[in-house]
Amino acid sequence: MTAISTTLVVAMTVDGKISAVDPQAPRDSDSADQAHLEYQVSLVDLILVGAGTIRAEGKTYLISNPELLAQRAVRGQPSQPVTCVVSHSLDLPLDLPFFNQDVRRWVLTTRTSLSSIHASLYQKAELVALGEEALDWELAYAFMAERGIHKVAALGGGGLNAELLNAGRIDDLWVTVWPVIYGGKRAPSPVEGEGFDPRMAPHLQLVETRQVGSELFLHYQVLSGSS
Ligand SMILES: NC(=O)c1ccc[n+]([C@@H]2O[C@H](COP(=O)([O-])OP(=O)(O)OC[C@H]3O[C@@H](n4cnc5c(N)ncnc54)[C@H](OP(=O)(O)O)[C@@H]3O)[C@@H](O)[C@H]2O)c1
Repeated sequence: MTAISTTLVVAMTVDGKISAVDPQAPRDSDSADQAHLEYQVSLVDLILVGAGTIRAEGKTYLISNPELLAQRAVRGQPSQPVTCVVSHSLDLPLDLPFFNQDVRRWVLTTRTSLSSIHASLYQKAELVALGEEALDWELAYAFMAERGIHKVAALGGGGLNAELLNAGRIDDLWVTVWPVIYGGKRAPSPVEGEGFDPRMAPHLQLVETRQVGSELFLHYQVLSGSS
């Protein structure tokens, strides 16, 4: 294991949905949650995000608050963290706004996937193969450590979150509970994948709570030895 710490930051409705059935459906902006997300992202060297989220949202998260940018400069961090997309298919359309954002882009994938890739993606991001058929998280974290990464924010979605929890890579979680109900069997939840056997599931300890209006911010530590 490397010394990199990984915080999962996720927001869900009271009924446990991280987006509506139609992920493109417009929703009201939420200044408290945006400020919370921006603060969490401002602390890290790297954002880890699944390709499904980049395809759905089109872009990565950028810090714009001058105070947070100044604090990063004092800590010797570049103004924006690296955005590291995880993808097996490498189905990442080059016209996504993400590829024109002013950030460093890494794409973690497998050797098998790289062998069949369109060359133009190389011009838009640094592509790194870590594992033959399946992504090897040990190699992925060793790669990040070599590149000077100390702190990671995992920003979803549910597919990536499941992988990281399964690999025992999440140290703590911030869960925002939006005071709304989206419903819908097909609406995604914070952790997808195959699901855990309850006896083997990651167990958590609540270490901090904050309330802003009707919104809750819950901070959990993942108990070691779980998952
Ligand atoms: N409310 C929130 O906090 C929040 C946060 C993030 C996302 N979301 C929402 O969540 C939805 C997307 O979630 P999702 O579960 O569909 O997508 P996701 O977790 O963002 O991405 C899943 C994809 O990531 C890649 N991936 C994950 N693990 C991998 C591994 N070990 N090796 C190789 N590739 C791997 C695969 O990409 P390929 O298919 O390219 O192989 C996989 O299909 C969107 O609606 C988004 O808006 C909500």
